[in-house]
Amino acid sequence: MAQQRISIETNVEYLKRYAYLERACMRTLAGWLPGVPEWEAKNEFGLHIWESADAADHLRARLRELRNYQPERNLSPTLQRLFAELDYAQNTAEVIATVYLVIKKALLEAYRTHPEVTWPDFDNPTVKITETLIPNTEKQVAWAEQYFSTIADRYSGWEAWRDYIAALLEADGGPTGAGPKRAAPQRPDERALLLPWKECQRMPDWPIFNPDEDIEPDRKADPEGHRLWRFKHYLNEMTAAETLGSILWMTPEMPWEYQHNVARHLWDEVRHSQLGQIRVQQLGLKIEEVPQVVQIYNVMMTLPAVEQYALLTTVIEPNGMPEKRANREHWEDIEDDVSAAAVSYDWSDENFHIRWGQKWTPVLLETYGYDETPEQIRDRMEAWLLENTPVKMQKRHAQGIA
Ligand SMILES: [Fe+2]
Ligand SMILES: [Fe+2]
Repeated sequence: MAQQRISIETNVEYLKRYAYLERACMRTLAGWLPGVPEWEAKNEFGLHIWESADAADHLRARLRELRNYQPERNLSPTLQRLFAELDYAQNTAEVIATVYLVIKKALLEAYRTHPEVTWPDFDNPTVKITETLIPNTEKQVAWAEQYFSTIADRYSGWEAWRDYIAALLEADGGPTGAGPKRAAPQRPDERALLLPWKECQRMPDWPIFNPDEDIEPDRKADPEGHRLWRFKHYLNEMTAAETLGSILWMTPEMPWEYQHNVARHLWDEVRHSQLGQIRVQQLGLKIEEVPQVVQIYNVMMTLPAVEQYALLTTVIEPNGMPEKRANREHWEDIEDDVSAAAVSYDWSDENFHIRWGQKWTPVLLETYGYDETPEQIRDRMEAWLLENTPVKMQKRHAQGIA
């Protein structure tokens, strides 16, 4: 007997919901990146923010093929409430228990069953997309299940919040919206919105960077000292990722393409931190021994999102390029292939970050009603950086010293 299949119109409604839920995961994880103190969670969130953004992007591309150009139009109010409520987690356990163990788990099930729901012989492109989303989503959920078991004891009360978020999704008919609808549940408790994080969080026993002790060794005279110093600063690019997490969370009015780009930019900065982490460990240090430059995130958060983005992409990143080129040459000269390879990928990524900055800074200025030109905000932010950065390297770069 033929199975009941959904119509093309219903298919569009399902795909709109998948894309929206992926964006919800991206957004909540981005907002929470600075808020989780656990280093492993930060690193994994960074990757998953990008994977969720890219999943949403693929789903949106398929929606366009199905002639839907407004994928966030006419979504159910309960689903929109769920989108906003996810941000109200209070700690790492509540973020993971909801984003991964409720939403991503439900999406995984939906992706797995989609071929049986749609007309797979006619809707092959959708089937192909859901098939490509399954392995990443499986890995995300598997990580969350394993990791959650290691932190659940440290937090309490997350069960009620998880059950509430699950009940909200359930009440709206699940990820596809096709299940039976129920009245939306009430929040289990009164709670504050902790986003955006004004200060980035670290484990309480981790050392904090002291600007007065940050002395750059001379490349030529002390290549080993210089290398360790430099990769400690790479490790601290986690704060750049955290800054982008808050920027992304604070600019939801921006076009989807911007959000997709910022999510990638964010993951790139996590990757730069990871190249620092790998190198620092190879050179004999533990990650938790490296002082954390939390100050740069915290001082940047005194600025609005538009100014933070202009500062990062039109001042800090372009100013840093000459030093990267000099380091690559130096490491090639002394035949340190590992360091040279690491900086060559960093340099390549940075080209895109600067290009995105040129593309999106004018749009941010326009969207948020600034009457400055991109050049004016760049000059203002450079002056601000010289005054406010705790990192001497950034000051030297701003003064044009590689
Ligand atoms: Fe970077
Ligand atoms: Fe960058």
